[in-house]
Formats: sequence, structure tokens, C-alpha cells
Amino acid sequence: MIDIALPKGRLGERVYQLLEEAGYPCPSIREENRKLVFENEEAGVRYFWVKPSDVAIYVERAAADVGIAGKDILLEYQPEVYELADLGVGQCRMCVAGKKGAREVRDQTLRVATKFPKIAKSYYSALSRDIDIIKLHGSIELAPLLGLSDVIVDIVETGKTLLENDLEIRDTVVPISARLIANKVSYKFKHKEITRLCRRVDSLCSKKEAAL
Ligand code: PRP
Repeated sequence: MIDIALPKGRLGERVYQLLEEAGYPCPSIREENRKLVFENEEAGVRYFWVKPSDVAIYVERAAADVGIAGKDILLEYQPEVYELADLGVGQCRMCVAGKKGAREVRDQTLRVATKFPKIAKSYYSALSRDIDIIKLHGSIELAPLLGLSDVIVDIVETGKTLLENDLEIRDTVVPISARLIANKVSYKFKHKEITRLCRRVDSLCSKKEAAL
């Protein structure tokens, strides 16, 4: 039995679809209810719905053998897990953005609002830029609008949130997508099962990519 932590929400649903096509179906997961654990003994799989930012914790601490986490979370928290594959879904990018037309004063400490302090620090430290991190948990785009920060470092997917709030991209920090991760001990003891899953998912992703 492989325990898989899926990120709750749209991304998780797409990833489940992929896993189903790869030979790991669990029809009960599609039932409308508030259950969080779903099992298909025959297919040898058990799924958990987990808050996306918590997937890596479940996998790192062996509550799940494998999971699907965004590259943003892996870069920010650097969990002790194996990154096995880029699933090519959940594509977006980590960007620096600020108010449209606003100029940066180079010799002043830059106030940066973000959910990702580690990623922001490492980006600005490579530029030798002094910054003051303002850690927020959501609606990051509000910070420059209300004068709380000069810029934000945040995820941009469609760009709609920036556009509708009169913000613009200043730079791309790193491209992001969903990754298949594995617990290090599980990888050793369930090696055959996990590598089989990885191989199947990988080949399905390549086929989908080739079909585009
Ligand atoms: C994320 C991100 C941006 C938005 C970008 O927020 O932090 O706010 O999505 O998407 P877009 O480019 O398609 O507009 P999320 O929806 O996770 O909510 P949050 O603001 O509570 O973090």
C-alpha cells in the first residue's frame, strides 16, 4: 500500500486525475463528502487530502510515503524529502511585483511583503540588496497598495490578481510547478512500489507534453 498526500483544491484534483490514469484509481475520492482519507486496497493506494503547504511535512515525517508539493514550498521549507519528478502541472512563477509605474529608491532598504521569506531573502541577497521582510499569510497584493511594502514576492499564475490591483511584474524569481516527492525511508523500503508509480506518472506526463 502506498500512502499519497494530495494537495487539496484544483491542483490536487488534476493530480488525482493523473494518478488515476497512471493506474492508481480510487473512485470513492470523487464522492461529495468531507472525508480526508480514501483507500483502494486492490490498487494498493491510500490518498489523503492535505492543505497544499502541509504536504511536504506529511511526507518528511513519513505520515505519507509520497506527495505532490509545489516547487515554491520545497524551496521555501527545504524539507528532507526526495524530489522524484516534475509533473508539469500547477505551472506558475514566483515574481517580484510592485505598483504600476512606481520607482524603486535604490539606496533605501526595500520593504518586501511575502509568504516566502526564504526565497525572497535569497533572491535579494544574490543582488546584494538590503531588504526588510514583511511576512504575510495571504492577499499579499494588498501590501504595496496600502503602503505596507514597496514590492511583493509572490506566485503569479494568470496575472489577473496583479492586473486587477494595478500592480506589475518587475522580475521573475523562479518558475514553479508541482513535484512528486517521497519520504526518504519509504523510498528505501517501498522502493519497487514508489519507483513504479514514479515511472508510470513520468511516462504519462511525457505523453501529455508530447501531445501538446
Ligand atoms: C495566489 C497568489 C496570488 C494569486 C495569483 O494566491 O498568492 O495572490 O494566487 O494568481 P493569479 O496570477 O492567477 O491571479 P491564493 O489564491 O493562493 O490566495 P492568497 O492570496 O490567500 O495567498
